[in-house]
Amino acid sequence: MNSLEQRILKDGIVLDSDILKVDSFLNHQVDVKLLKAMGSEFLELFSDKKDEINKILTIEASGIAIAAFVAEAFNVPMVFAKKGEHKNVGNDVYTADVYSFTKGRTYEIAVSKKYINKVDKILVIDDFLANGQAVLGLKSLIEQGGAEMVGAGIAIEKAFQPGRQKLKEAGIDLRALAVIESMSPETGVKFGTN
Ligand code: G4P
Repeated sequence: MNSLEQRILKDGIVLDSDILKVDSFLNHQVDVKLLKAMGSEFLELFSDKKDEINKILTIEASGIAIAAFVAEAFNVPMVFAKKGEHKNVGNDVYTADVYSFTKGRTYEIAVSKKYINKVDKILVIDDFLANGQAVLGLKSLIEQGGAEMVGAGIAIEKAFQPGRQKLKEAGIDLRALAVIESMSPETGVKFGTN
């Protein structure tokens, strides 16, 4: 069992069969020692592709802290897509619309054209995989820049939600540190494998 799975069992709170709260260590208060370990574990998870990956791409807000440690482990730059208003990035941007099922609304994500280039082989990192829309939006940004998406590294994949299937259908090499097969407040979290 890796450090994230151990921590989920210790401090994760299953709100209902769909939502896991991890805000005491991952997406509000952040345990940087845990994130450093996760960076190394992502490097291990994608060790077969580590020599080709030259950039990490994530999306604000919760992806940023994790992606920073992954980038440090791979020794490559990290870029994060901005959500909503992005005037400070300028107009020379790639954009994609992302629909959030959890929030019931569409938002735009954007990244400056300067930071996605044809030579790039990009690993996408995010905290949760639920419906897969954020990762598909990031894939679109990568393709607009003529770069290659090498895979998606997810901290917590909720395998019982549609995201896994959607990413596989899109041909994405999906790997997660913690794959949750099912969960409930009564029985807790049950992990599966990639
Ligand atoms: P998708 O990207 O996979 O399609 O998922 P969805 O739109 O349904 O998720 C919307 C937001 O909810 C995302 O954060 C996602 O990280 C978060 N989320 C999804 N499932 C869970 C869960 O079980 N627990 C927690 N704590 N969060 C979950 P976001 O809106 O992009 O927020 P942030 O990154 O700015 O914090």
